[in-house]
Amino acid sequence: MTEQLRELEARALAGVASAATPEEVEAIRVDVLGRKGRLAAISREMGKVPPEERGLIGKLLNQAKTSIEAAIAGREDAFEQEKLARRLDAEWLDLTLPPPGVRPGSLHPLTRIQREIEDLFVSLGFTVLDGPEVESEYNNFDALNIPPDHPARDMQDTFWLENGMLLRTHTSPVQVRGMQTLPLPLRMIAPGRVFRNEEVDASHEHTFYQLEGMMVDREVSVAHLIYFMKTLLAGIFKRDVTVRLRPGYFPFVEPGFELDIQCLICGGSGCPVCKQSGWVELLPCGLVHPNVLRLGGIDPGEWSGFAFGLGLTRLVMMRYGIDDIRQLQGGDLRFLRQF
Ligand code: DAH
Repeated sequence: MTEQLRELEARALAGVASAATPEEVEAIRVDVLGRKGRLAAISREMGKVPPEERGLIGKLLNQAKTSIEAAIAGREDAFEQEKLARRLDAEWLDLTLPPPGVRPGSLHPLTRIQREIEDLFVSLGFTVLDGPEVESEYNNFDALNIPPDHPARDMQDTFWLENGMLLRTHTSPVQVRGMQTLPLPLRMIAPGRVFRNEEVDASHEHTFYQLEGMMVDREVSVAHLIYFMKTLLAGIFKRDVTVRLRPGYFPFVEPGFELDIQCLICGGSGCPVCKQSGWVELLPCGLVHPNVLRLGGIDPGEWSGFAFGLGLTRLVMMRYGIDDIRQLQGGDLRFLRQF
């Protein structure tokens, strides 16, 4: 058994020393040190060893284990160092070089799409409104017919400020401001940054962009809503897109809809981007709730309207095939220079 152990140790050490990749080292680790590995097999044989030899064998076992572990750690470290060295070699900057001259800037993809949509709506008679990112609870919730016990008001979603104000969770409060300031009939859009207390991952950010829209006139109907939404999507995607309306609940519209577009990546047959469904949720919308009109000082008996809240960040990701939302605000010039 002593012989067997010595040989195993020698072979493992030689293997680690000559391994060319971290994967090879890992394979040796599993084979020798793993729970079902060779050392474990030997230690299971200990029962058969005469008691007077057990101490020695046990010691040898431990020594073998320690020395192999140390060799593996050393080799892994060396691989890390090599990797770092390769990276430093590839990504270095020579600070003594003369500056590269003026590098022309370019618009952020979000800005670019936002401006395209603004131009489109201005050509349709809409006014572009701006609203503050720090909003009152009244404008963000109450005036939009969001009852006090609605989950959207939850502390986890909303960033509250110490003075009782909040960071707007959507661009819908600009509807409230629009109703207060614009003469009727009104057509407005409001692009802007919104904030939610979200766990950040590839598809969620605490800060993202929406584009709100609202039209109030006499006898505005779902037909108007669909016409404008299709015009919007055709303008953005430069082709006719297939849309689907599903009922959706938002306290500030009645009826409310989720407007999905057929996935532009796979054409509707199913892919990872649309989670195999063939459809992508993009544009919640609906007819403005009478309570919202009333709270905005507009008589719902005389006027009606539609509203929508386009997920601008998501749209930009669809349009450019960006699969990680964190890249948009990451500030990495290598990403930004592609646009
Ligand atoms: N404000 C909603 C949100 O952020 C989106 C929305 C839905 C806006 C329906 C609308 C609308 O104007 O009609 O989740």
